[in-house]
Amino acid sequence: MELADPERWKRAAAQAAVAEVEDGMILGLGTGSTAAHAIRLVGDRIAQGLRITAVATSRATAAAARAAGIPLVAPDGLAAIDLCIDGVDEIDPGLRAIKGGGGAMLLEMIVATLARRNIAIADSAKRVDQLGARAVPIEVLQAAQALVTAAVGQIGGAATLRTNSAGVILTDSGHPILDTTFPVIPEPFRLAQAMSEIPGVLGHGLFLTEIDALYCAGPDGLTCQERPADA
Ligand code: A5P
Repeated sequence: MELADPERWKRAAAQAAVAEVEDGMILGLGTGSTAAHAIRLVGDRIAQGLRITAVATSRATAAAARAAGIPLVAPDGLAAIDLCIDGVDEIDPGLRAIKGGGGAMLLEMIVATLARRNIAIADSAKRVDQLGARAVPIEVLQAAQALVTAAVGQIGGAATLRTNSAGVILTDSGHPILDTTFPVIPEPFRLAQAMSEIPGVLGHGLFLTEIDALYCAGPDGLTCQERPADA
């Protein structure tokens, strides 16, 4: 079946990133619909003889990786990961990103920090001039939910508990998520620091220095951008 445009673009970006996977690597596998393309493509390469092990950033990714025949290891004992391929919710020209639409930002940040190289894969709708159109998710300790909500208000934002029709959505680690919105994010580093300093914040979706390259596809084709030296 022919894929709809955004899915074709996600797949094209994923394909370019998966081309960098080499025998013997430990590979970080991101979470979300774009990463799902990469997982399937890695599975195809394994079927053709590629030998790697992978680290999953969520239960959903672990299930997809198993279905694709990708051997998994837990990140706990790993000192480093060779390459990580993951999606983004928003990314600016300096390769600063918002992640966590799927609620996996804490493990995604751990895996990205362990990785020697992080490739963000995206369709062109994810590109922005300035971060902040989408919410920045924060994973919080339940006991700190009210405290973090108030603290986000003090730094100019509004926090909304992530829910669905079944109730409060919890991360794979069992914590609630606060989706935080700001009128603008002129200084993302300052915001990331302020968020990290609130007691009870376990992780947030601002990935400001981790992404080394962006492979992005859209109606004008595929672009591969390395992190600018000064960013
Ligand atoms: C998961 O928590 C996120 O960080 C995803 O990587 C991000 O939301 C991108 O997801 P899609 O590829 O589904 O847009």
